[in-house]
Amino acid sequence: MSETVIKIENLYKSFDFPLFKGLSFSMKKGERISIIGPGGCGKTTLLKILLGLEPFDNGTVELLSHDMKILGGKESSTLKKIGMAFQQGALFDFMTVRENIIFAMEHLTTYTKNQMEEKVIKLLQAVKLDNTSNLYPYELSGGMQKRVGIAKALSSDPQLAIFDEPTAGLDPVTSTIIINMIKQMIEDRSSIICTTSIETAIRFADRFIVINEGRVVADDDWRELLASKNQWVAHFIGDRLHGIDIEYARDLGVPEKYV
Ligand SMILES: Nc1ncnc2c1ncn2[C@@H]1O[C@H](COP(=O)(O)OP(=O)(O)O)[C@@H](O)[C@H]1O
Ligand SMILES: [Mg+2]
Repeated sequence: MSETVIKIENLYKSFDFPLFKGLSFSMKKGERISIIGPGGCGKTTLLKILLGLEPFDNGTVELLSHDMKILGGKESSTLKKIGMAFQQGALFDFMTVRENIIFAMEHLTTYTKNQMEEKVIKLLQAVKLDNTSNLYPYELSGGMQKRVGIAKALSSDPQLAIFDEPTAGLDPVTSTIIINMIKQMIEDRSSIICTTSIETAIRFADRFIVINEGRVVADDDWRELLASKNQWVAHFIGDRLHGIDIEYARDLGVPEKYV
């Protein structure tokens, strides 16, 4: 039996309007998934709920078999096993790149100083930013900041790695580089990307969890969703496929009518 990393059942959450209305999905150890849906459908809020950073009204939220309703953000030993890269990179402006990554490791790991320094070098090599360790975030481009964010998220060797909109605001070439980097670095650990970009989602994972109007409206290999009986889902995926790189679409075997 494979281990369940995330179990969300019948999640309800309202702000001044109902956001989640019975949202459910689960994820097993080693799975890689793309959570996709229109802007404002609640992807970031879902991640915050999962990490205990945002309360919810009803339902079950389990992270690494811990009940987040009871433990919330206080369950730090569970949260230390998660690596999270927020949309805005979440880097401290007053710390250099190296200091930012070390800061994360100091809080999340028991590595020695030497191990941390070695890790920073390795991680920055992996994201092709070897020469930036003494630069400040404002000295980097948006794409470079995102790469530091990725390095930081993976610095603690998390069991589950989560990336929120890792390619937002980036051009297609940079986006592809970033997704490939993430895939290489996460190896076979459990990982999630939240995105509004179909190309990012496809490049990252076969399994799509599609969120709309407060619920998971589809959960399957994206190829299956093109033929979904749910018209909204079929259109949501199909319409966006028209925008992706043609060569890549053909490589993937996207049916010609969507290319
Ligand atoms: N703290 C908050 N208070 C009120 N509304 C919020 C709050 N956080 C998010 N929202 C609203 O909830 C909806 C979902 O937001 P978000 O989770 O950021 O969506 P996504 O990441 O899918 O774009 C949006 O309408 C947003 O304005
Ligand atoms: Mg978001």
